[in-house]
Amino acid sequence: MSITYDRNTEGLPLVHKFADQVKGRTFLLTGPTPGGIGAETVISLAAEAPATIILIGRSLEKAQPTIDTIGKVNADVKVKFFEADLCSFKTVRKAAQAILDDAEIPKIDVLINNAGVMATPFKITEDGIEHQLQANHLGHFLLTNKLLPKIIAAGSGARLVFVTSSGHRYTGVRFEDPNFTEPDSYHEFGAYGQSKTAVILYAVALNKRLASHGIRVFTLHPGGISTNLQDHVKALDPARVAKVMDDVSERVMGRSLAEQREAEPWKTLQAGCGTTIRAALDPDLVKEEGIYMHDTVLVTDPKWIKEWATDPELAEKLWKLSEELVGEKFDI
Ligand SMILES: NC(=O)c1ccc[n+]([C@@H]2O[C@H](COP(=O)([O-])OP(=O)(O)OC[C@H]3O[C@@H](n4cnc5c(N)ncnc54)[C@H](OP(=O)(O)O)[C@@H]3O)[C@@H](O)[C@H]2O)c1
Repeated sequence: MSITYDRNTEGLPLVHKFADQVKGRTFLLTGPTPGGIGAETVISLAAEAPATIILIGRSLEKAQPTIDTIGKVNADVKVKFFEADLCSFKTVRKAAQAILDDAEIPKIDVLINNAGVMATPFKITEDGIEHQLQANHLGHFLLTNKLLPKIIAAGSGARLVFVTSSGHRYTGVRFEDPNFTEPDSYHEFGAYGQSKTAVILYAVALNKRLASHGIRVFTLHPGGISTNLQDHVKALDPARVAKVMDDVSERVMGRSLAEQREAEPWKTLQAGCGTTIRAALDPDLVKEEGIYMHDTVLVTDPKWIKEWATDPELAEKLWKLSEELVGEKFDI
């Protein structure tokens, strides 16, 4: 089946095209709440014949409609749910251990770190970390590193997919003050940009460590899709919101928000999961250069992917900082 890769490429045709990469395999995804990109991703994957879909979310109650829809699409898919709040290392460790101990999960072929938050008000988590840094990066750093034995058990061809954002272009990692302790330093999109840059730097460091296993990590910007993600932006002080969003748009996209919306209207959820699904399934991606996908293709132009997100030295620095912040070393 011939497919054109662009911003309109939908997830479902890709699932059918790469059916042999779905059949019998085990997928894990964080953030399966209905109405989001993650739910659309796993519901699309169920259309072929994955053996197992593992979902990680904050509550079974929230994930249940997604589980029910997967059952309607394909009753033969085994769905397993594990509860974890990425902003609580205790619960992430508990979920990871439960997955490692589960004899019905001998391996994880594809891990998709999809969960995320954007532009939340300043908050320090129970682990003493700025909320967006933990939700978007550190929770996933801990979860993924803990699960690596089962990912490596899947062998060459296993895949890790990290959903990041064009928002990484707002700023690099604030190595000197990642938790925004300096007075007046917090900015909703500064924290989002830092966390999404960290996601890509982590992928760079992990790719280096997993190369000898034939396992690749890809990161991606899914596009602009209207989901619950924008709730915190809508809740910003109305007097500030237009100015903040124009500033973000200029820094990230190089044009005003109005120009941006005109050039790139919201994607549908199906087009919104297209990039994740290609990253998860297309075996030929490994032949191409790059680690970051935009509109279903790998891109390396600094216009799309900032150097502060791909620099190997910064990736190692971020790995060390992440180990310090989660309080655990990973010799991979
Ligand atoms: N939509 C866009 O335009 C856009 C653009 C660029 C990047 N992205 C990225 O795409 C990904 C999916 O976003 P979306 O648009 O689908 O947003 P969404 O509908 O709000 O979904 C986000 C998911 O993450 C989960 N989550 C949030 N905080 C969590 C935590 N502390 N622990 C565990 N799970 C948590 C949410 O669970 P709850 O329901 O429990 O909150 C939800 O399932 C995110 O990484 C986002 O940054 C989206």
